[in-house]
Parts: sequence; structure tokens; C-alpha cells
Amino acid sequence: MSLPPPTLSSDPTAVRVWDPFVRIFHWSLVACVLTNYFAIDDGKDIHQWVGYTASALVTLRIVWGFIGTRHARFADFFPTPSRLRAHFAALREGRREHHVGHNPLGALMMLALMAVVLGLGLTGFLQTTDTFWGEEWLQSLHAWLGSALIALAGLHAVAAIAMGRIERTNLVAAMVTGVKRRT
Ligand code: HEM
Ligand code: HEM
Repeated sequence: MSLPPPTLSSDPTAVRVWDPFVRIFHWSLVACVLTNYFAIDDGKDIHQWVGYTASALVTLRIVWGFIGTRHARFADFFPTPSRLRAHFAALREGRREHHVGHNPLGALMMLALMAVVLGLGLTGFLQTTDTFWGEEWLQSLHAWLGSALIALAGLHAVAAIAMGRIERTNLVAAMVTGVKRRT
């Protein structure tokens, strides 16, 4: 029997971090990207709509980054040089940090992933216009961005699992339940 997710009052080590929008955004984006890369990469209608859905999700997430809940806001996790320096210093010295929201290096990767998704949306759209239709360099750029996205996402997933172990928090489970809990 599975227990209900912990609440702040029932478990003092549990913190509600990711709101439903962030979680639905994340796993829908993963589904769109994997579908377009591995299942429907022919550039036809479904591929285009799935790709536009991914771009729309990222656009909405950017808006949510300004008006959303506390840890969803860019102000909470934007990887500024000083935050990155402090994070590298902690990693170098083997100090274990506890970030309630995203850690600065993870945040840098997330911004990169979102930018590449928008890049795919743009290069995909341009291929459908009269001006760029049939342009080989654009097709190659689109394909290259697709592969770069999968490589970055693989690294991101491995890093999320590894950082979770280091920080003793199951980060992947938190992206499902919304709750971060120290073990
Ligand atoms: C999550 C976003 C997307 C991903 C991961 C993605 C990925 C891919 C991949 C892997 C290919 C095959 C490339 C090759 O091997 O030649 C492809 C082709 C294509 N995609 Fe996308 N795509 C995305 C979004 C879009 C969007 C939004 C559009 C257009 C509105 C689009 C239009 C096309 C077209 C027209 C092709 C065929 C290009 C050719 O003939 O070589 N894609 N895409
Ligand atoms: C195509 C694949 C993926 C893309 C494009 C992607 C993208 C993202 C983005 C944009 C965020 C930021 C979430 C936000 O603040 O709204 C994020 C966070 C996260 N992703 Fe992914 N992701 C992918 C695959 C995965 C996979 C497979 C896993 C599981 C192993 C995963 C685990 C996580 C976790 C745990 C976080 C939160 C990290 C933290 O606690 O700071 N992602 N991802």
C-alpha cells in the first residue's frame, strides 16, 4: 500500500517545492521531446504539433518563472556568477549543500535545455516557410539541435540522480510528487 505524500505538518523533513504546473510542464516536455526525437521524426503534421507544444510549454514556463510559486521563480534559482562560484566552492571542498529549489549548475542546464527546445521550434518552423523550405543547412541545424538536446537531457537526468544521492534527497521523486524530503 502506498502512503500519501508527506506534508509539512506530518513530516518536518519534507518541503513542498514544485507546484503542479512545474511538474506537469516537466513530464509533458519530456514526453514531447522523446516522441519527436525517437518516434515521429518525419517532420510531418504530428511532429510539428508536438514540437510546437514543446515550445509553448517552455514559453509558459518562462512566464511562470516571473509570476509562479516561490521556487519556480527565476529569482529563486537563476545561476548568477556568485551563486555558481559558491556552488563550485562547495563541490570542490566536498561540502554537502541543501538547495530547496534548483542548484545553480542544474539551473544552468535547465536554461540550456529550454533554449534548445525553443531553437528546435524556430528551426522547425522556418523549414515550413517559403523562404527556407528545402534549405539543407536548416535541416542539418534542426537535426543537430535535436541530438544536442538528447545528449544534454541524458547528462541532466544522470546529474539529477547523482546530485540527489549527494544531497540525500530523491530529486526525481520530488519532480513527481512536488515534495523534497531528506533521507
Ligand atoms: C521538441 C522539438 C523537436 C524535436 C526534438 C525535433 C526533432 C527532429 C528530428 C530528430 C528530426 C529528424 C532529423 C533528421 O534526421 O534529418 C526532425 C525533422 C524535422 N522536423 Fe523536427 N523536432 C522538433 C520540433 C519541430 C517543429 C516545431 C517543427 C516544425 C514546425 C519541426 C519540423 C521538422 C521538419 C520539417 C523535419 C524534416 C526535416 C528533413 O526533411 O530533414 N520539428 N525533427
Ligand atoms: C528530454 C528530456 C528532459 C528535458 C527536456 C528536461 C528538462 C528539464 C527542465 C526544463 C527542468 C526545470 C524544471 C522547472 O523548473 O520547471 C528540469 C528539472 C528536472 N528534471 Fe528534467 N528534463 C528531461 C528529462 C529528465 C529525466 C529523464 C529525469 C529523471 C531522471 C529528469 C529529472 C529532473 C529533475 C529531478 C529536475 C529537478 C532538478 C532539481 O531538483 O533541481 N529530467 N528538467
